Amino acid sequence: MEAAILVKCDKVWVNARLATMAGPGLGVVEDGVVAARGGQIAYAGPRTQAPDFTAEETVDCAGRWITPGLIDCHTHLIYAGNRAQEFELRLAGASYEEIARAGGGIVSTVAATRAASEDELVASALPRLDALIAEGVTSIEIKSGYGLSLDAERRMLRAARRLADERAVDVTTTFLGAHAVPAEFAGNADGYIDTVVHDMIPALAAEGLADAVDAFCEGIGFTREQTHRVFETASQAGLPVKLHAEQLSNQHGAALAAEFCALSADHLEWLDDAGIAAMAHAGTVATLLPGAFYFTRETRVPPIDALRAAGVPIALATDSNPGTSPMTSLLLAMNMGATLFRLTVEECLLGVTHHAALALGLGDRIGTLEAGKACDLAIWDIETPAELVYRIGFNPLHARIRRGQ
Ligand code: NIG
Ligand code: FE
Repeated sequence: MEAAILVKCDKVWVNARLATMAGPGLGVVEDGVVAARGGQIAYAGPRTQAPDFTAEETVDCAGRWITPGLIDCHTHLIYAGNRAQEFELRLAGASYEEIARAGGGIVSTVAATRAASEDELVASALPRLDALIAEGVTSIEIKSGYGLSLDAERRMLRAARRLADERAVDVTTTFLGAHAVPAEFAGNADGYIDTVVHDMIPALAAEGLADAVDAFCEGIGFTREQTHRVFETASQAGLPVKLHAEQLSNQHGAALAAEFCALSADHLEWLDDAGIAAMAHAGTVATLLPGAFYFTRETRVPPIDALRAAGVPIALATDSNPGTSPMTSLLLAMNMGATLFRLTVEECLLGVTHHAALALGLGDRIGTLEAGKACDLAIWDIETPAELVYRIGFNPLHARIRRGQ
């Protein structure tokens, strides 16, 4: 008799097809097994190579597909009010930039968000979070940036953290104080950046409310010099940075972000070759946001071929926000990534799993089905992984597992 090594597990999923997202390609395993122990993956791979398990519970997946739980790595999920009225103005011909310059846009959401309590911010974000969770999202990044004062930014970040208590989801918070110039600093963007770097970043970092720092480097946002000051202060506070870069024009923000070894540079429709080279060198992820591209009717597509050629990892996210991407579907973001940007199915799926994890600095903890990673799974009623990208407005999620539960 052979001396089999018995591995004790909490739960095992058998008779599954796996897209481990750990490569090569989708990392497909036809007859796969996933085993969870202590909330982590103890084994994910072919049944024939699996150790012998004793598990408290065994789930027969009946041939369903398992992917890592999805990761939405760029959202502005916390805000009050909405911008449906602005949407109507845009339908009548006004541009996003015109509305922003006329005092609408981000600044109008700031007024509503400042007037909301922390409880109200949590309550209004929950339905949006639930929509994402219903599609298998297990981790989400949430930015501040509609408060623009220390108190209001703190309230947003606290509300974001609280969502992780309200639902079984991991929340990563990003401080986006440099999102817009608030009315009380009109005409004095430098003065506003003074308070961002002297008051807000030190306080919020000390309170542990921000996991990263972001900025909006744009003609209607902040200059490279102002962004540089924000990044310098973030780095001094020990916080990684990311950037809304090259969304409406080429400000050479991605290259600046790469100088600071940014986790990601996001949007990137106007990204140039120098920016791509800098990102490749720094290992900065390119997070593409096709929902914002679609909703603002942008026509300039990010330089996908050049990003591929340079080996820059591409992530995809909803950019869920009231102004440019009122979207709460990561499945739709994948469809848009393929349809509008011509990303492959593999690129789309990597973009909401492994590469999204890299964009959050969590590549060692989530994003693939590998032993040692968190046991965050999405189990799908599909015949091929391409169906996750192909359909529009259809949700084939069968079950969502977080930390093995
Ligand atoms: O990611 N570009 C800046 N920030 C958001 C838009 C925010 C808003 O319009 O409220 C974005 O597109
Ligand atoms: Fe954004």
